Amino acid sequence: MPEALQLNVGSTTLAVSAGSGMPTIVHYGGRLDGFDSRALDRPVPRGTLDAPPALGLLAEHGSGFGGRPGLVGSRPDGSAWSPRFAPAGAPEVTADTLRFDLVDAVAGLRLELSLTLGETEALVIRTALVNTGDDAYQLQRLAPSIALPADAAELLTFGGRWCQEFRPERSPFAGTTVIENRRGRTSHDRVPALFAGVDGFGEHVGRVWGLQLAWSGNHELAAELLPDGRRHLQAGELLAPGEVVLAPGERYRAPELVVATGEGLTPVSQVFHRHQRTVHRPVGPRKVLLNTWEAVYFDHDLATLSELASVAAEVGVERFVLDDGWFGYRRDDEAGLGDWWVSPEVWPDGLHPLIKHVHEVGLDFGLWVEPEMVSPNSDLYRAHPDWALTTDGYEPVMGRQQLVLDCGREAVRQYLYDQLDALLIEYPIAYLKWDMNRDLVQGSGADGRAGAHGHVLGLYDLLDNLRAAHPEVEIESCASGGARADLGILARTDRVWTSDCNDALERQRIQHGFSLLFPPELMGAHLGPPAAHTTGRHQPLGFRLATALFGHLGIEWNLLETDRDERRAIAEAIEVHKRLRPLLHDGDVVRVDSPDPSVLIHGVVAPDRSRAVMAYVLLEPPRATTPTVMTFAGLDPEARYRVDVHNGFGAMVDFGRSRPAWMDGPLELSGAQLMASGLQPPVIHPESVLLIELHTVG
Ligand code: GLA
Repeated sequence: MPEALQLNVGSTTLAVSAGSGMPTIVHYGGRLDGFDSRALDRPVPRGTLDAPPALGLLAEHGSGFGGRPGLVGSRPDGSAWSPRFAPAGAPEVTADTLRFDLVDAVAGLRLELSLTLGETEALVIRTALVNTGDDAYQLQRLAPSIALPADAAELLTFGGRWCQEFRPERSPFAGTTVIENRRGRTSHDRVPALFAGVDGFGEHVGRVWGLQLAWSGNHELAAELLPDGRRHLQAGELLAPGEVVLAPGERYRAPELVVATGEGLTPVSQVFHRHQRTVHRPVGPRKVLLNTWEAVYFDHDLATLSELASVAAEVGVERFVLDDGWFGYRRDDEAGLGDWWVSPEVWPDGLHPLIKHVHEVGLDFGLWVEPEMVSPNSDLYRAHPDWALTTDGYEPVMGRQQLVLDCGREAVRQYLYDQLDALLIEYPIAYLKWDMNRDLVQGSGADGRAGAHGHVLGLYDLLDNLRAAHPEVEIESCASGGARADLGILARTDRVWTSDCNDALERQRIQHGFSLLFPPELMGAHLGPPAAHTTGRHQPLGFRLATALFGHLGIEWNLLETDRDERRAIAEAIEVHKRLRPLLHDGDVVRVDSPDPSVLIHGVVAPDRSRAVMAYVLLEPPRATTPTVMTFAGLDPEARYRVDVHNGFGAMVDFGRSRPAWMDGPLELSGAQLMASGLQPPVIHPESVLLIELHTVG
């Protein structure tokens, strides 16, 4: 094995051996300057091929690799199905990037691979395939591999469903685990992300590797253990047969793969968050918003909504978002999608009177849209039934009584651009909630091929063009809650609607899973009504507030139905959120493993470690009569911290007689002690949160 090319940044080293064939990752983990890959030359086991095939960055069946190939495709006559690439020249090496150009002259293909390990320590892998042959090349998979060492023994994947997004699931790294998403959008249940780690890895123990695919459509993720003990993670777009056919000279770019490694899950999340903070445009302090959906649903009325805006302003809200129901003949969810003009029936003077009032009480204005959709009962569908992604000869598969428009078509994109552009020109709209409320299945594009790939690219193009024309407008990505949260959409939107579930108990878990991948400022988190609309469960106001506090805060509750005490508590929480917002939305997220599964410990530490805010969340009655200790992470062990307990928001914590003496303060502890032995919480009720703020002293 030749000596390796290396990128060393911070605590991470990537070493890639690149000889006469496919480059191969030989070390990706803790920093090892001067890594010499000769030490890892592999023997030829008995009963196998004469030369052990490499587990390359693109696993090649053509070189004898017997596992999942990274490239699947062929020419119309069936040839070129098993390519074997060779370098087209020397790799290009810069301070943070390794670039490889490889060719297979027999198959008529060129492969372009680049690996960038930047300051954030995120490894970004870009892969493209060019058809250099004389006829078409039908592609079905282009998915790079991250080879991992033999101690990667466990996987963390994501499951879930509508209202239970981002559910981490642990399983052994054994055999072949394949996760396929065929929903045409990122999905509630198959997040394009995957973690592997050493046996028993936790938040701060054990080497962990994580990957995220920057794609908002179908995807496939794999973790494969080979009989010779090698293992790899693989991720790429899931392509239907015939969905991507490269004409001679044409190029397919695989979605970017963003990879991170660290000692424990928390450091890996921090790398992902840092990376995204470099990708995202700054939008200033994230405005606290009120969204009208669970307040009024489709019942739009100027007087009520104006009053709602006034009360929202009184409690400190900064943005008013008018949800579904304002356009076309959209009086319920059975009609109107596609007709993006303000309903004259409901809004005879347009949205102007409402927006004027919203501005007068000091808020800015946001609007809900679902541009990629069309209701069969709409003017748009009556005019252009062929614009929907359906398949000729079959009854369309319906979802929420609607169809998906083929954004792969120029005419569709132009129509949507014109409609949205006109709205953004006519009205002072600061924020769009961009929704996508059904799976995209069984849809063919204009050429009869599967349409998901073209749709996603068209959507990206539409968003990019709108953002270029209206750079001041923030965009939220929603898909029946969190079914479109991924690095692809987040490169062109400003936050995610995390879940339709505002039940704080469910939310704690959903947000916990979300935080593995994305930073808090991208996490839409709303205070819902006392009885959660999606579960019917009741939770105390303090618990609901302390849950929403940690994201991009919003309210989704008819404030006109609240009493004075509730409004006072909401106002106090909004004030606390605004004070903590710079820390929450710029700091390092930490999670701490709790020995009691009924307890979640999470928070945010300032990058200079001078401040932190941490939550001790009791989800259900604890295992022991005395609550398990709250330990901290990410602090400066040498520094001393003042410990302040936040007991606000009304009935957040019921200390009773159990109030420990330390709570009467003042208490100053070293970071080392807080992290090693922690604080003993009082006895608190389930569904409450103990909020601790830390500041360095001296
Ligand atoms: C989806 C969204 C909700 C709301 C409704 C409106 O379900 O997730 O937040 O906007 O659509 O129809």
